[in-house]
Amino acid sequence: MTATARFDPAGPLRGDYTPPADKSISHRAALFAGMCDEPVAVENYLDSEDTLSTLGAVRTLGAGVEEEPDGRLVIRGVGLHAPLEATGGLLNVGNAGTLMRLLPGWLAGQPGGVWTLDGDDSIRRRPVDRVAEPLRLMGATVEAREGRFPPFTVRGAPLTGIEYELPVASAQVKSCVLIAGMFASGSTTVHEGAPSRDHTERLLRRARVPFERDGERITVAQVDELELERLLVPGDPSSAAFMVAAAILVGGSRVVVKDVGLNWTRTGFFRIAERMGAVIVGDLEEPGTESDEEPVGELDVASGPLEGTVVEPGEVPLAIDELTLVALLGAHAEGETVVRGAGELRLKESDRIAGVVDGLRGLGADIEATPDGFVVRGDGSPLAGGSIEANGDHRMAMLGAVAGLASTEGVEVVGMEAAAVSYPGFEKDLRALL
Ligand code: S3P
Repeated sequence: MTATARFDPAGPLRGDYTPPADKSISHRAALFAGMCDEPVAVENYLDSEDTLSTLGAVRTLGAGVEEEPDGRLVIRGVGLHAPLEATGGLLNVGNAGTLMRLLPGWLAGQPGGVWTLDGDDSIRRRPVDRVAEPLRLMGATVEAREGRFPPFTVRGAPLTGIEYELPVASAQVKSCVLIAGMFASGSTTVHEGAPSRDHTERLLRRARVPFERDGERITVAQVDELELERLLVPGDPSSAAFMVAAAILVGGSRVVVKDVGLNWTRTGFFRIAERMGAVIVGDLEEPGTESDEEPVGELDVASGPLEGTVVEPGEVPLAIDELTLVALLGAHAEGETVVRGAGELRLKESDRIAGVVDGLRGLGADIEATPDGFVVRGDGSPLAGGSIEANGDHRMAMLGAVAGLASTEGVEVVGMEAAAVSYPGFEKDLRALL
């Protein structure tokens, strides 16, 4: 059912705010715990549609998932090499692209098993050839609709390590190959080209998988078991980014974001926003840091006059899920804001280049699409408002809400229910800051 919600100009935003748990890390926590022999306690697992799909998948494969009275999840995994309970059948990934790309790395290393991954209409439009290719090179048999799209069938096999250069700067593809690498004879090396989110690498280290990084080369070796006991999921900087953008855009705002993940591979948007003139004070992790921990901290955000900026291709993977917010800031900034090297945005839950260009233009922005990004021009005054379509994309729905608060006439978001994919309490949390 399509829900329409209205967001009228309001503000300022004031107070403390704790974002929901990190979606990327929650997916990985469930998958890694599912591959452990011993139970793993996961604290602050994200309760959203996407991450429930991942719990459903690990349960189908034979893992136990229990919620303790204090809210922690205890996941009793099946180990890396025990035969999986369901050695065949359908795994429903729903709308979760991360699950669709990471899980095949695990399944490919299970000789004798055959699984088909499928999901909703949006997932059926998202390419899986990018993970099919390396898994094939490692020895698995995989089949995708038209060679590219789900449903996606993975036939496990004894795998052999490979050296693989990522054709796109994608943390999902990198993670898939590294996960498969734990099952592959010898070692597996991924050349990532440009840095992208490194949660999988931190977990591999944490689980004591033989792991090495040499610049942009990441190597894992085959392993018998994973060693993890407890995982704490920090707050999601990508979810927090919507409240941060609202605080930046609505004059007089001051919001303190608590318990948010500050991993440098996720904080590109905060750096871009600072460069544009926003006031963001916090302990962002130093770029280039390698660790087996996820840093957590606080951000103190205030509004300020914005100016345009250029986002270069190397910055794109570090802000990939927040680039539509860069467009919104750009529309309110003085001068030109350009994002390049972000063609991947066309392959997200929706085509986010088309979505943000049509959406913000409909609210009065001067914005144009390019093949791999967009150009937006502003004179420092707010957008008028109007109506915006979420197109089933959670981040487009939340973008519309923030645009409404910052506008002069308000914004109606068609398809607000999509926010539940990553952030079921979004509207309530946003309104609580007003
Ligand atoms: C994710 C990686 C990114 C991001 C997605 C989550 C992850 O996708 O857009 O929301 O958890 O690894 P790509 O790695 O395909 O760019």
